[in-house]
Amino acid sequence: MGRKGFVIAIDGPSGVGKTTVARLLSRRLNFRYVDTGAMYRAIAVAASEAGVDIDSDEELKSFCEGEEIYISKNNEIFLNGMEFTRKIRKPHVGPLASRVSRKKPVREFLVQIQRKLGEDGNVVMEGRDIGTVVFPDADVKIFLDAASTVRAGRRRRELEKTADMGAEMLEEVAREMAKRDRRDSTRAYSPLRKAEDAVYVDTGELPVDDVVDRLLEIVKQRRTGVK
Ligand code: DC
Repeated sequence: MGRKGFVIAIDGPSGVGKTTVARLLSRRLNFRYVDTGAMYRAIAVAASEAGVDIDSDEELKSFCEGEEIYISKNNEIFLNGMEFTRKIRKPHVGPLASRVSRKKPVREFLVQIQRKLGEDGNVVMEGRDIGTVVFPDADVKIFLDAASTVRAGRRRRELEKTADMGAEMLEEVAREMAKRDRRDSTRAYSPLRKAEDAVYVDTGELPVDDVVDRLLEIVKQRRTGVK
């Protein structure tokens, strides 16, 4: 793969705190942070705006061929020069991205871009298949997980903060999230799963700063070769 820098792969289901943890970790290490979910979200929004049948492999394939995707160091995301950063955070986009992400042409298109981003140097990359497919040879692999009740509570608070919507019922959020996780974990291509050599961390039991400290410790050990 001809990689220059250190790659940290962080995977896990939705609402597990991946984004917060990955971002904080990247700041502490002065690494680039890449949110791969944002890429699936942007393709989902742009394809549906363009009237593409998002259940059709052929339509998605030719759509992706016409797209140039750019993700800045701050994870602002652009398709063919148009910015999607805010739009992709709307509540309906999560399930839409999950549907689009089952499709092989979309995964192939985004995985090669993600690999290029990793080749450049020190990076914390977050998603569902980073340790299993995008960088099976990542230097550090982390799988974050938490009980579904904890994740649903987190996701609701997140939506209240970032989305233009009122308070949503916890049960509704929990239902949607469970459905999405089921789809992400059971799809044929690159399902969400822990890589055999990933370190499993339960974020439901630890404050965010402790999770980050734990990951920093793991990174430090790998970098110095200490077990
Ligand atoms: O992490 P997120 O909620 O922004 O991700 C949105 C969807 O994108 C998620 O339901 C599954 C998909 N996804 C994926 O299949 N592979 C990734 N590496 C990242 C996200």
